[in-house]
Amino acid sequence: AGFLLGILLSTGVFALCVRHISGDRQSGGAEIVLKLGHSLDQQHPVHLSLEHMGELLRKKSKGSVELQIFPNGQLGSETECIEQLQRGALDMTKTSTAPLESFLPEFALFSVPYLFRNEDHAWQVFTGEIGKELLRKGGEAGLRGLCYLDAGARSFYTTTKPILAPKDLKGLKIRVQSSQTAMEMVESLGGSPTPMAFGELYTGLQQGMVDGAENNPPSFYSNRHFEVCKHLSLDEHARVPDILLISESTWSSLPAQVQTWLQESADEASEFQRKLWQEKTAKVLLDVQSEGVTVHRPEKSLFATQVKPMVAKLQGTAVGKLIERVQGLP
Ligand code: GCU
Repeated sequence: AGFLLGILLSTGVFALCVRHISGDRQSGGAEIVLKLGHSLDQQHPVHLSLEHMGELLRKKSKGSVELQIFPNGQLGSETECIEQLQRGALDMTKTSTAPLESFLPEFALFSVPYLFRNEDHAWQVFTGEIGKELLRKGGEAGLRGLCYLDAGARSFYTTTKPILAPKDLKGLKIRVQSSQTAMEMVESLGGSPTPMAFGELYTGLQQGMVDGAENNPPSFYSNRHFEVCKHLSLDEHARVPDILLISESTWSSLPAQVQTWLQESADEASEFQRKLWQEKTAKVLLDVQSEGVTVHRPEKSLFATQVKPMVAKLQGTAVGKLIERVQGLP
């Protein structure tokens, strides 16, 4: 009887989760449809890697699990998507870790300017103990972290003039992500931070609501910000990764086998994306120059020195302790 009850329970749970997840959308024959919302364009290497993940999932599950991707902020801003995951209204999202800091304060770590020595140092952290600990932290907010995705280094670009030193930011309104740390960074450098959703930024720049922004080259390119910003200054002030999240309520409703396929596909997509990222970054830097953008290479130490007091203030806090661990890595 216990065995029978077990079967009944597990199929009951299974049926529930299928209904919950697939909602009223066409599932194309899949038994489980996972909806994923994100803010980037379909040409973006992050979107391409999510498509790759969907393909892996389809193969592993022989078509029974489908990843349905909604790009371009169709389902809301990154903050709104995170909130929908918490409520169980959306299954998955790919977001920058920057807006996560309002939900899980330790994630501020990744927005700390000039934290990493280089890309390898950053990936050593993302895939090492600290990165894993933070992925697990998600559980406290109803968010399960599946993997990180490369989002390179962020740099300033403006509609008006090159940023060669922090003094050039004076008086400029710079769009930042919804992150306290990003606000403090721009303030420390002398600019006026203006939070705005990524999807509104093109218009914001075009209409002069902001004078500039900061992002990685593939996002500068794929959202066509280069059309309005003709100066890109590679000061590379932060390496804020992207993260793939699934709602805890979706996750716990999935059969164990599906959870395994999902985690494997996420890990494989993350590796695939890292390679794609490097190719695309090199390519878009050439592409934007042929579109009339001047790429400047300012002296990074001018910026790094200016943010030191802001980083020093974090000493003794939870984020400060993580910073020490990051810096202590060989
Ligand atoms: C990066 C990141 C996006 C994010 C964007 C932003 O491009 O990959 O997820 O939306 O920054 O600045 O908002």
